Amino acid sequence: MSFPLYAPGEEHAMLRETVRALADDKIAPHAATVDETGEFPWDAYKALVAADLHAVHIPEQYGGAGADALAAVIVIEEVARACASSSLIPAVNKLGTVPLLLSASEELKQRYLGPVARGEGMFSYALSEPEAGSDAAAMKTRAVRDGDHYMLNGTKMWITNAGVSEFYTVMAVTDPDAGARGISAFVVEKADEGVSFGAKEKKLGIKGSPTRQVIFDNARIPADRMIGEEGTGFKTALATLDHTRVTIAAQALGIAQGALDYAIGYVKERKQFGKPIAEFQGLQFMIADMAMKLEAARQLTYAAAAKSEAAMHGEKIADLTFFSSAAKCAASDAAMDITTDAVQLLGGYGYTRDYPVERMMRDAKITQIYEGTNQIQRMVMARQLLK
Ligand code: CAA
Ligand code: FAD
Repeated sequence: MSFPLYAPGEEHAMLRETVRALADDKIAPHAATVDETGEFPWDAYKALVAADLHAVHIPEQYGGAGADALAAVIVIEEVARACASSSLIPAVNKLGTVPLLLSASEELKQRYLGPVARGEGMFSYALSEPEAGSDAAAMKTRAVRDGDHYMLNGTKMWITNAGVSEFYTVMAVTDPDAGARGISAFVVEKADEGVSFGAKEKKLGIKGSPTRQVIFDNARIPADRMIGEEGTGFKTALATLDHTRVTIAAQALGIAQGALDYAIGYVKERKQFGKPIAEFQGLQFMIADMAMKLEAARQLTYAAAAKSEAAMHGEKIADLTFFSSAAKCAASDAAMDITTDAVQLLGGYGYTRDYPVERMMRDAKITQIYEGTNQIQRMVMARQLLK
């Protein structure tokens, strides 16, 4: 099987138009309120589910839209352009379910992917812990076999959409003497006994997406909810990130595009020294640089998405890990630069909550931190290059 490198086709262009219209109409009007109140964007969730855009990556045989990785990128980009918090609905649904797509039994896929595809529940991903962030393999959460169940004890930290998601992919230690090879992955349900959630973290940005601890206190999880074989959970977790760092790149692109579009509109209207500030070459060069960085990051992201798609179809893509890290790193660094410059282009007004660019700048920051900090991305890239 061979896949075109990454040129978006007619269907991708139509998808972008559809998502942009939906985001402009149903998501953007609530973005400032979602940021102010920190409430989960249920309106966005309902609109995305109604349009079948909340988890487009789920294959048709599990009731999903069966869209490719580039389509998922386009959905996330366009939702993030309007509201970064809302873009974590499709992004985290993908993050939570890729472990199943990669490694779970057919029975587990049938059981859990359908409800997500139908919009009956979201799926989160629980790898990080208070003492194990970048060094994820240092996790302490234990899963001990108890007959036909596993007993889970420990605390996962920073879990996106915790509490609003019905389902969780949870990595836990089944063999403490085996290091990364002693970690296994499980599906945990919100309703499982012994599962509870910490308070919502008070964050700089993406305020509408709850980030909470997930706490396991003698949570009894049926053994048939293990994803893949015992001891393969860390590999599944990292293999997942090879696909989903591309979605964080998409989120960063969307936030940056939103800021660039807003700033371009503004400089054409705002007058100083008797003319629109867009006529000053100093600002024109800033805008040119912003668009150049954005487009470079976009091309890298689309290339990474094409590789992700090919890998999902069983092709051996040796540089997928490099490309997904590079895309996430480049797009998030670009988003931070572009949103900061957008605030600058609006002057004092940009620094206030009366305009959306300060929110976009705050939202952009997280893309340099989660799914592995950009220091870790550089480490991953260097390891690939030097091995
Ligand atoms: N795919 C599959 N397996 C992989 C892999 C990959 N990309 N990379 C490594 N592995 C395997 C290795 O082969 C090794 O297995 P063997 O021992 O059987 O050979 C095992 O995994 C351990 O690999 P390493 O020795 O390289 O692992 P490490 O402990 O040195 O660390 C790391 C690897 C890259 C630093 C990793 O811990 C990492 O990515 N850390 C960042 C954590 C992270 O990204 N967290 C994201 C949380 S999710 C999130 O934030 C959500 C959100 O955005 C919404
Ligand atoms: P640390 O690992 O303590 O890092 C601190 C600093 O040290 C960073 O600058 C880091 O880059 C640097 N550093 C660490 N090691 C090295 C090294 N070897 N070389 C160079 N520099 C290094 N996790 C999940 O599992 N699921 C989620 O849904 C999720 N969502 C998140 C949502 C939010 C809002 C946030 C803030 C985090 C989320 N995370 C999630 C966790 C996220 O992936 C971690 O915060 C991230 O991986 C960094 O871990 P840490 O915060 O422990 O920082």
